[in-house]
Amino acid sequence: MSGRLLNIALPKGRLGERAYALLARAGYPCPAVLEDNRRLTFENEEAGVRYFWVKPADVAVYVEHGATDLGIAGKDILLEHRPDVYELLDLRMGRCRMCVAGPADFIDRPERTLRVATKFPNIARDYYGARGRDIELITLGGSIELAPIVGLSDVIVDIVETGATLRENGLAPLREIAPISARLIANKASFKFCGEAVQELARRVERAVEENEGA
Ligand code: PRP
Repeated sequence: MSGRLLNIALPKGRLGERAYALLARAGYPCPAVLEDNRRLTFENEEAGVRYFWVKPADVAVYVEHGATDLGIAGKDILLEHRPDVYELLDLRMGRCRMCVAGPADFIDRPERTLRVATKFPNIARDYYGARGRDIELITLGGSIELAPIVGLSDVIVDIVETGATLRENGLAPLREIAPISARLIANKASFKFCGEAVQELARRVERAVEENEGA
């Protein structure tokens, strides 16, 4: 491959490993990525790529600032932080749903301000704002399901994957806000200046996604 290497931010963890496997199948392997060590950067000159392990929530920050050309980010992060990047492809993995959840018998009383606990304040604000519903936002860092149990909030806005965390805490999904999955994102300047290489990668990854789905 000619030109410089494409820099790609992978989200640390299982989703990142699955995304890497997809990229490897698409023709961008770099087996050292899966080595069990503390290194964060890996490159394969022959394949024209350099990979970085990044905290999942930070991938879009690296891409937006051009520290990497490409990245794999969850749609939840893109909806919440609205980074100025191109969303090139749905990788159709890491699927889950952004939901409103709470006690199964919860009844929303419009005369009362609804207390909503979440890690995703912008998504919650947008969702209720679009419905003209007054809310009090309670932003937490995790274990959101605890909030309605201890009376900190009426409902939560959170990710539901299997639904097990809600069930085990006596809660249920009440409304779906958006389907979530992993997306291939690109820095806007990289897309302009390395357009051919970026688009070639996106095309090949798309084929690999389709093969995955067919398998
Ligand atoms: C996420 C989310 C839910 C859980 C949903 O939490 O916030 O708690 O996964 O998955 P399930 O429907 O399959 O049970 P995460 O594991 O990221 O931890 P957190 O509590 O720190 O947010």
